[in-house]
Amino acid sequence: MVIKDFTPMAGTTQWESPSNIALVKYWGKMGNQIPRNPSVSFTLQNCVTRTQIDWFEKKGNSSELDFYFEGKLKPSFGQRIQKLIATIAEQNTVLNQYSFRISSTNTFPHSSGIASSASAMSACAAGIIDMLRQIREAQDSNPWDEDYFKQQISFYSRLGSGSACRSIYPNAALWGEVSPDLGSNLWATPLDHLLHDDFRQYQDAIVIVDDSTKSVSSTMGHGLMNQHVFSKIRFEEGLRNTETMLNILRTGDISSFIDIVEREALQLHAMMMTSNPSYILIKPNTLAIIEKIRQYRQDSNVPLCFTLDAGPNVHILYPFAFRDKVKEFIETEIIELNPKMNWIADEMGLGTKQI
Ligand code: DP6
Repeated sequence: MVIKDFTPMAGTTQWESPSNIALVKYWGKMGNQIPRNPSVSFTLQNCVTRTQIDWFEKKGNSSELDFYFEGKLKPSFGQRIQKLIATIAEQNTVLNQYSFRISSTNTFPHSSGIASSASAMSACAAGIIDMLRQIREAQDSNPWDEDYFKQQISFYSRLGSGSACRSIYPNAALWGEVSPDLGSNLWATPLDHLLHDDFRQYQDAIVIVDDSTKSVSSTMGHGLMNQHVFSKIRFEEGLRNTETMLNILRTGDISSFIDIVEREALQLHAMMMTSNPSYILIKPNTLAIIEKIRQYRQDSNVPLCFTLDAGPNVHILYPFAFRDKVKEFIETEIIELNPKMNWIADEMGLGTKQI
């Protein structure tokens, strides 16, 4: 290995990372962001965060991070990013030599109520890990292995926000240990290679039932699982459902997919409703949409189903072939519940990428 005595004084990198939607939910954690059960998600395509990181050699007491969101300086949004950089710097002290200017934008409205921590944290982790790669490669000229690079991004994304570690990989990802030789609690595992063709290009229509900010943060919700009366059963169920989901994704069994995805969504909210203190995050229209989806599925045989994250918005998942029918269903039957509701047409995507 040729060691050059050279550390770049400044540099830049730009990354895009998507949100993801969990099919089997991560709800409950221990230690340093270790999930209490494994989870599986589809990676999205259109709901993404784009982040540019510029770094400069630190001078005196100059600010270490200026964080801009949608072009405006937002120190409060930058706190979580600052914490993530500090975490990465624990193992990579070279970061302490630099100041940062980070500019982020989302393709989806910030106020849409769509969880943005997965896309935001993974885009930022990708940028910082790429910065480290650039610095190291300038020093020793050894190119990084691509799989190792992605695993590092996933590892540090997880420390920023658990679900973010799944956004790195195309189409579908697993996070959490299923058995000693399958899955890891430290980073996500790509699932694209096992996906049945019927699950390719799967669609996700996100109906924004309520665009206000969440009344309970995910982190607090996870905490409530520590004393929850149903926690043991839930964690066992999360593991079992992950095992079944992996088989479903392999075999293309869409009716079992629908069954697990909907029960996982309802179980997540059942946990919130029965925690102490308890939270009801669904709204009357969340329930109305769920009923409409089930009725439409029964009447039309279109294999659509719903899932929810920790909020009132409804994700409608369905195969690509039914795109026109589902669009018509949403525009006629769903939006009529409240014509002010918006919806976002999303679908499976390719994961974190450099732009
Ligand atoms: C309901 O990943 O947002 O979306 O690790 O505390 O940042 P932190 O939590 P977060 O939790 C996501 C919860 C969920 C389910 C899921 O995505 O698996």
